[in-house]
Amino acid sequence: MRTIKDIDFDNKRVLIRVGFNVPLDDDGNVVSDIRIKESIPTIKYILEHNAKQIILMSHLGRPDGKVVDKLKMDKVADKLEKALDMTVVKLDDCIDIKIPDAKIIMLENLRFHKEEEKNDEHFAERLSKLADIYVNDAFADMHRAHASTVGITKFMPGCIGFLVEKELKYLTLKEIERPFVAILGGAKISTKIPVIKELLKKVDYLLLGGAMIFTFYKAKGYEIGKSMFEEDFITEAKMLLNNEKVILPDDIVVAADKTEDSETHVVNEHQIPKDMIGLDIGPESIQVFKDYLKKAKTVFWNGPLGYFELEKFGKSTRAIAEYLADSDKVVIIGGGDTEDAILPWKDQYTHVSTGGGASLEFISGKELPAIQALKENEIEFHDVI
Ligand code: 3PG
Repeated sequence: MRTIKDIDFDNKRVLIRVGFNVPLDDDGNVVSDIRIKESIPTIKYILEHNAKQIILMSHLGRPDGKVVDKLKMDKVADKLEKALDMTVVKLDDCIDIKIPDAKIIMLENLRFHKEEEKNDEHFAERLSKLADIYVNDAFADMHRAHASTVGITKFMPGCIGFLVEKELKYLTLKEIERPFVAILGGAKISTKIPVIKELLKKVDYLLLGGAMIFTFYKAKGYEIGKSMFEEDFITEAKMLLNNEKVILPDDIVVAADKTEDSETHVVNEHQIPKDMIGLDIGPESIQVFKDYLKKAKTVFWNGPLGYFELEKFGKSTRAIAEYLADSDKVVIIGGGDTEDAILPWKDQYTHVSTGGGASLEFISGKELPAIQALKENEIEFHDVI
């Protein structure tokens, strides 16, 4: 698959699909600009290689094919302008537009048109008319078969940008220095089963945390009180427990309610009181996890270990995040919730993915549709002029 290093950008108009689906507050302000900053190396490289113009396009939120004022790209364009220290001209739509004579242009939210998510061929073709070369640097959206990520590759020469290249390099989890330990947390086992299965082929140990552990305890026949679990996945959990690489916590922080002022207790994993909810892994388990991690040369982590949104149930997540941040191991962190949980130490890890769903799909061994499309449609520049 081509990367931007394989392309001659001289005097070309370049359309970059960026992953600017950034978190917003209630007033539509950008809460984190990490995804915007991560696009800068690609934009700068293309500018330094004499591109005539750069046109950026992304989705923001889920407007379902309608114009939603809060999801307009203006505030994102402002953030990009600051990060790049260059003027960014923001347009009011993404198709049927006259492209002004500016160096950096940002199109309006692609998902204001329902054709984007439908991977509509005609819509993709109209997008392709905006420029000469297409660059996909939106790792967070590469698991979506949409017009701007898949359809468009049939109509113009394309390649991946530096961010996608970096994500693929780290998340492939190949040629890993062993021992290799993975930590998997999060609420639902149902969304993690393909990842667990794939990781078990590669890791030496798989440490499990987050609310999904209660489905495993249920599978062992333990009392789990009012903790969440997924009935339909108990059999699957039972089978996974046969694998000796799987390590479950052996003490749990419980409380009667999921509130900051509720009283907490630490109990053995098989002694959760009937009226309590398991909300974090306990201090003994933190130590056991650290002992496994101590031996590791490479660590992959996806999913918080407790209900970290509340400070009092985020102790294990913070303890492990801090421990790994201070280590000299290769540490690869998944995106989404995991990224939010480790934010204060973000710069101290080898790689923090910008993709939530995309990184999970990639790690579970699936070919991402946007990658497949670029591989299948290696159009040459002269084919389209
Ligand atoms: C993300 O933020 O994970 C991606 O932009 C995907 O967003 P979506 O789930 O709305 O497709």
